[in-house]
Formats: sequence, C-alpha cells, structure tokens
Amino acid sequence: MQRKITLQAALLITLLPLSQSFASPQNIAVIGTGYVGSVLGACLASFNNKVVCVDTNKETIEKLKRGEMTIYEPGLEEMIARYTQNNSLSFSDDPASAIRNSDIIFIAVGTPMTDDGNANLNAIESVARTIGENLNGYKVICTKSTVPIGTGARIKQIIKNYSQNSTEFDIVSNPEFLREGSSIYDFLNPDRVIIGLESERPYKALYDVYEPLHKRAVPFVFTNIESAEAIKYASNAFLAVKITFINEIANLCERVGADVLQVAKGMGLDKRIGSQFLTPGPGYGGSCFPKDVQALLFKGNQVALDLKVTRAAKESNSEHKLRIFEKLSKLLGNDLSHKKVAVLGLAFKSNTDDIRESSSIDIIQKLIENKARVSVYDPEAMDNMKKLFPNIEYNSSTYDAIKDADAIVLLTEWDEFRLIDLAYVRKLAKQALILDARNILSTTLLKKLNFTFENIGNATVSTSSPDPVE
Ligand code: UGA
Repeated sequence: MQRKITLQAALLITLLPLSQSFASPQNIAVIGTGYVGSVLGACLASFNNKVVCVDTNKETIEKLKRGEMTIYEPGLEEMIARYTQNNSLSFSDDPASAIRNSDIIFIAVGTPMTDDGNANLNAIESVARTIGENLNGYKVICTKSTVPIGTGARIKQIIKNYSQNSTEFDIVSNPEFLREGSSIYDFLNPDRVIIGLESERPYKALYDVYEPLHKRAVPFVFTNIESAEAIKYASNAFLAVKITFINEIANLCERVGADVLQVAKGMGLDKRIGSQFLTPGPGYGGSCFPKDVQALLFKGNQVALDLKVTRAAKESNSEHKLRIFEKLSKLLGNDLSHKKVAVLGLAFKSNTDDIRESSSIDIIQKLIENKARVSVYDPEAMDNMKKLFPNIEYNSSTYDAIKDADAIVLLTEWDEFRLIDLAYVRKLAKQALILDARNILSTTLLKKLNFTFENIGNATVSTSSPDPVE
C-alpha cells in the first residue's frame, strides 16, 4: 500500500545522504517533442539517463531522427546530435512500446487554451489512456506539461481505468520553469526543482534522474501534487503581474517626466523586489503567460474565487498591446492609410521562432485594419508568421524591411536590432519615425540623427556614456 507523504517523510527524503548509491541510469520516455519535451529529453540524456522521446507526429520524429530541428532553440541541435550519437537519446513514434520499455514516463504534451480560457487536456488524457493500456510493471508517471490544479488526480484515475490489471504506479508533478530561448541553460541551472508526490516510493527514481542537480545543491521542494501544480501557475502569474506592473509604471513615467529604466533599476535593487522581469516592453506574450494567467482565472472561477490581481494583469496587458499600436499611429499623425510600416521583430521575445500571443500579431492586425502597408523582418519567426499573415511583405534583412518606410516599430529585442546602423536607417527610410517598444535603441543617437521617436516609459537609452547610477 502506498502511504500518504508526511512532512517528516518529505524532510527525511530531502536529507538522504549523497553517498548512497543512486547512480543507476533510468530508462525514461518523454512523451511530446515540442519546446519542453525535446529540451527535457536531451537534458535528461545528458544526466546519464537513457531517454526515448516520443511523438505521434511521424513527420516530427522522422526529422528528429535525421538530426533536423522542428523548433528553434539555441544549443538544442548540438545536444541532440551528441546524445543520439552515444545512444543515450532516441526518437520514436510508437508511444506504446516506449512506455512499456521505460520506468519513468514524463508527459510533456501541449495544453493549449480552449475558447472558454481553460487548458485543453485532450492530449494529456490521451497520453494517460495510452499509459494505462501499456502499464506492464511499476512506473513513475511524471507530469511536466502545465496542467490545471487537480489534473494529477485525473491522470491517475484515467491510468487506473485503462490498466488491465492492478499494476502499481505513482503520479508525480514536476513542473518546468524553462524560458524559451534559454531552455537548456535553465534546465541545467534551475533555481529550484519542484516535485509533487503522494508517496515516498517514486523518490529514489527521481533522485537518480536529477542526480547531477542534487550534487550541485540545487534546492528541491518536495510537496503534494496539488501544491506543485499550483506553484507553476502562481509563478507564471506572478511574473506576468510583475511585467504588467512595470508596463503601467512606464505609462506613468511618460506622463510625469520620469524614466522607467531608472525607476526599474531603483526598484530592482531592493532585494525584496529583485530586478528580473521588470523590463518594460510591448506586453508579455508567448505560449505560457497568457494561457496560464487565463487558466488560473478559470480555476479561480471554478472554486468561486475572483483572482483580482491576476485578472487585472490580463486586462492591463491587452490594453498595453493596444496602446503600443496607438503610440505608433500617433507618430504617423493617426493616418496609416497606404503608409509603409516596417515591423522589426515578430517573435514574442528574442532567441525563439515562437510567435504565439506575440504583440506583433495584434499590431500587424491593427495595421492591416487601418490599411497600412506592412513590411516585416525577424531572423527566425517569419515562417511561423507567414501562416497567419501570408499577404504582408516579408524581407530578408532589417534594411530591406525599412527601405522607404514611413515608420518603424521595433517589437523584439533581437541582438541584431541592437546593432542597427541608425545613420543608414535614416537614409533608407522615407520618414525618420521610430517606435522602439523594447527600449534598445540609443536615444542619444536617435536625437543626434534627428529621428522623431518614442519608446516605452520615456526611457533614456544610451550606448555610449557610462550609466550615472552605477
Ligand atoms: C515563461 C517563464 O519565464 C518560464 O519560467 C516558464 O517555464 C515558461 O513561461 C512556461 O510556462 O513554460 P517564456 O514564455 O519562455 O517563459 O518567456 P519569458 O522569458 O518568461 O517571457 C514571457 C514574455 O514576457 C515575453 O513576451 C517577454 O518579452 C515578456 N517580458 C519578460 C517582458 O516584457 N519583460 C520582462 O522583464 C520579462
């Protein structure tokens, strides 16, 4: 019989001595090969585990087997090549046999937003059924996907219903905190690892899986499954609130003559606040914050709780995206008709090809509605954007995009935009109008070159003089 985990037990297992022999490699199946699953698989292989990454999309698996990437994530291609070559990592489109041959199964399939704002659990439930049908011995089932609080219990019930016999298994919630674009670094250098479990039995297997992190004294938090699920949502919602807050302060700065970068710096030096995620921008996007904020609100509703702060962040972020468009429109004298607008950056942030919930989508949509001519450039995300907006102008460089432009809006903080030759831009563009929604262009230089420009929060961005506050 499995025992409910107690606080004492959690403490005891956290304190187990490192000298015990935990080094046996684990046979792991990672189900889902998207942004999370592919990174998870490669990184677990680097921890001396034997990992098979599974996806029912045969085309994806064929590509991965050939060493071709299906997403852009820095360092992933090299890692996959390395660990497939030494046979620690393989790919399969056959979940049933991967499950049967593994001791630990990580679920890393997508949980997209449904129309009513909840997370769509179709893929999760389908994986749980397949696990149940193929449960041929004790296994640890570990959820990496971001799932609404209570989903662990649902997965457990489905596996029970579909397993033919009374084979034992354990459910674990092990949420990920990886940022796209730096996922591999984040996986290998986590601030913490959260493990939600309901018995002591899966502990050893998980200890072995993450052994290198234990050895580096990375903090592990052992808790129950519901708390682990809640930690993931609370963390993402809090970061979304933090970003939204600084964006609101940026709006205030614009009205009162303050500089948001100085304000953020002054705030961030307070250790209770911290400087990260206080960078103003065009509004948060991506596949996580918008979806997770919404799903948390949905969960609140289900239990008759209005999560007011979270709701305000969601509303404020949507308004902020609109406000970026209004700033741009104002720069152009509120007449966009037939004006050529160059959009620099489509990805929701730099170092990714992901455009999900990117502010660029809202802004391009508004530009089209206002009959502007839209000319875009992004180093990685154009193929994805072509699926949404096939009829705007795609360019192969920043300078192609801005040629004869009436205005330029910079939306993603790619390094190559930091290095733009503004003097050349001044010559190429029809009008010297720039909205820098990432505060990365030197305002000193923009002034010197007689640009009419706006950024977020009246920021002074200087690349030439030392920062007076340091
Ligand atoms: C986010 C979290 O940071 C990860 O910890 C989490 O694992 C992940 O969601 C997830 O749930 O899977 P990610 O969506 O990759 O990661 O991107 P972030 O780096 O968090 O940025 C999200 C959005 O906020 C971007 O649009 C970014 O430009 C914006 N942002 C971020 C700001 O506008 N200002 C900031 O200071 C930070």
